Amino acid sequence: MNDSPAVVATHPGFAEVRAAIARIPRVDIAIKNTPMTEAPNLARLLGGPRIFVKRDDLTGVAFGGNKLRNLEFRLARTMAEKPDVVIVGLDLQSNSARQTVGACNKLGLETILVLEGSRPNQVQGNLLVDYLLGAEVHFARDRQEQRRLLDSLAEECRRKGRKPHILNDNPMFDVASAVAYLETTIEMLEQLDAMGLKPTAFYMSSSGKGAAGLEIARKLFGGFAVHCVTATSEFDVPSRTAKIANETCEALGLSLRLAPSDITNFGEFVGERYGVPSDAGNEATRLFARHEGIILDPVYTGKAASGMIAHIRAGRFKRDDVVVFVHTGGTPAIFTWNQLWADGKGATS
Ligand SMILES: Cc1ncc(COP(=O)(O)O)c(C=O)c1O
Repeated sequence: MNDSPAVVATHPGFAEVRAAIARIPRVDIAIKNTPMTEAPNLARLLGGPRIFVKRDDLTGVAFGGNKLRNLEFRLARTMAEKPDVVIVGLDLQSNSARQTVGACNKLGLETILVLEGSRPNQVQGNLLVDYLLGAEVHFARDRQEQRRLLDSLAEECRRKGRKPHILNDNPMFDVASAVAYLETTIEMLEQLDAMGLKPTAFYMSSSGKGAAGLEIARKLFGGFAVHCVTATSEFDVPSRTAKIANETCEALGLSLRLAPSDITNFGEFVGERYGVPSDAGNEATRLFARHEGIILDPVYTGKAASGMIAHIRAGRFKRDDVVVFVHTGGTPAIFTWNQLWADGKGATS
């Protein structure tokens, strides 16, 4: 992303890493420095370590979430082309799509979404928010049709004298996500430090992009574990994470390199498959709601929380350990899966 990034010191501190990040063009969209709050009821219930929640569900635009942080870098690159409309192809109930439309609204750009799937009878969750935000929504049967539509809609815009930008062709998604979560980890370490605390482990839903940022921070600053939990079986997550981490280090001018063996990612909490809630994830979602008033989602964060809870129950942590759960958002999905919660049953405690 930087043509020739400045070389950063071999053992950089927070200031040097922040300075390297500051060299990447960026627009201001998200609320950053999101709260880090303790979850004492949950910790007491589980009889485990101290639990803190990094509230990245509160990044401030269209129900918040992790993607707003990377959109600051991706859309800076988009804005350099001076478009008036952003066209993006994503999944039907994509958190990323919702946050992209919200971010584009803030920048005064129109958004055309090409979502894989068909329009459901009941418009709910992220799709409902996409409409509310004013996106023009098209549906595609599969990836091939999605690609064709992206190109033909862009062509149509150009014919009308408009300047479209296809966000899928913007190559920064992986690196921008990792940069964003490297910065977020510094933010978290500073927040904990201000409370006189050092983290034992971070838990976060990721299948590589955000995880790469946390893993770079772990290698640079040390003293804590990174336990990312994937919500999909689609990737070999350790090699994907290491690859993204190395591209990110290169872009930032960091000499550090990571191998797949450096990465800890738990694949056993996916359940049946991506996008389908799991019993353990639903239990975690209920526990967070009922004991802390924090809403997770059943597709990403609930499953990641189920990994953290399983590890706590297995006795992995001591009472005075500090475990941080990074809440990456995704909350509109609770409405898509309304029947899971509507009967009021299923709480373990
Ligand atoms: C709520 C939520 N959490 C976590 C993730 C995973 O993020 P990544 O794999 O990009 O780190 C996503 C991705 O779409 C998400 O929507």
